[in-house]
Amino acid sequence: MLTMPDWRGLIAARPALSMHARDGLLFEEVPLRAIAERTGTPVWVYGAGTIRARQAALRAAFDSAGLGIAFRYAVKANDHRAILGLMRAGGLGADVTSAGELARALGAGIAPGSIVFSGVGKTRAEIEMALARGIGQINVESAEELMMISAAASALGRTAPVAFRVNPDVDAASHAKITTGRAGDKFGIAHDEVAALYRHAAGLDGVSPVGLAVHIGSQILTLAPYEAAYRRMAALTGGLRAAGQEVARLDLGGGFGIPYRDEPGFPLDSYARMVRRVVGGLGLELIAEPGRYLVGPAGLLLAGVTLIKQTRSRRFVVLDAGMNDLLRPALYDAFHGIVPVDAADAARPAGPCEVVGPVCETGDRFAEARDLPPLAPGALVALLDAGAYGAVMSSTYNSRPHAAQVLVDRGAFHLIRPRQRIEALWQDEIVPEGLD
Ligand code: LLP
Repeated sequence: MLTMPDWRGLIAARPALSMHARDGLLFEEVPLRAIAERTGTPVWVYGAGTIRARQAALRAAFDSAGLGIAFRYAVKANDHRAILGLMRAGGLGADVTSAGELARALGAGIAPGSIVFSGVGKTRAEIEMALARGIGQINVESAEELMMISAAASALGRTAPVAFRVNPDVDAASHAKITTGRAGDKFGIAHDEVAALYRHAAGLDGVSPVGLAVHIGSQILTLAPYEAAYRRMAALTGGLRAAGQEVARLDLGGGFGIPYRDEPGFPLDSYARMVRRVVGGLGLELIAEPGRYLVGPAGLLLAGVTLIKQTRSRRFVVLDAGMNDLLRPALYDAFHGIVPVDAADAARPAGPCEVVGPVCETGDRFAEARDLPPLAPGALVALLDAGAYGAVMSSTYNSRPHAAQVLVDRGAFHLIRPRQRIEALWQDEIVPEGLD
């Protein structure tokens, strides 16, 4: 049973946050009020220190399990080039899912050989681009795609390093919209069809099978579904090798969850030990593709209160951020902590309210019956854990420009994307002559 943590508990559980008696809510020691005064709201705020700490935690877990592994950051979680730069600096490669993400990763200086191309609908043009740049691994999702890769690589005179993404028929039991490894999902190759296709690939022009890949979903907080999937991978590896195939690499996927309310965090150490136990003895080169784990807790959406609307039955706190900015609550009923920013606001007794955005949709609601102190127009709130699948999923619905983005690093903050200008909303539109 999930409880409803109060905002004090949310702050106490997050090392990047603290409430200062005078300066209000600090994020990596920088007052959020100061950022809002500079950029206005809404603004996404990311913390470089938190990202570095999370990279280190990942590495430490595998080091202490005695397991060598390479990380390929899932760019889709947050594709800002400053974030990608932090990943490159931390020695991570990238997991990309489109030509756009590939171009961003390459542009951030990530070596092509440490980039994995995943996704169920890569186009021939995307495959050609990846091959021309010397991509390290293409995860094949179907027999049809294998043929497309073979043809594209042969035409270019290249050999594509391919890993077979297996659909292990395991339910990750996270949200139905982000679980990917059930037999009926669109992802991967059915586990009982992989061996035949792998053998077939070994004789095909232009492709070189390097191993297996699996990704069962996102925001997973328990080990059982991972273990079930990795057991299948171990069995498949054994079967392929017994049949004379070479299997060098296993891509463990991503999906490591984060606490959005007061759930225990992802059991990283036990995960690393489980990986070691299940596949550690197979002499496989291991890679993983975490996204959310690295950046989710390293970001928040700072919003202003536009007005308080009191109806007979409810207090609506109307923010200047909407579902066009942070879509997760509307799309997945996702919980995001919401905390007051000013110390004076924080000191007042809390009561239930509905936290909503300005977009003309009932689903534009960040929280229902959430306990918050009285907030006046102009007050600031922080929507927590919005560093992953936040800005990347935002839109300009209702002609609302993309919010500004700021990176906090070593006690200072940098504007990394100005708020989109209203005129920029239509700058690429073409209005044909003679419409009137
Ligand atoms: N690898 C592959 C092949 C993926 O499809 C994904 C995420 C990842 C790695 C990274 O997963 P992560 O470690 O971030 O869980 N928009 C949703 C999440 C969608 C995840 C899509 N694939 C959300 O806001 O919860």
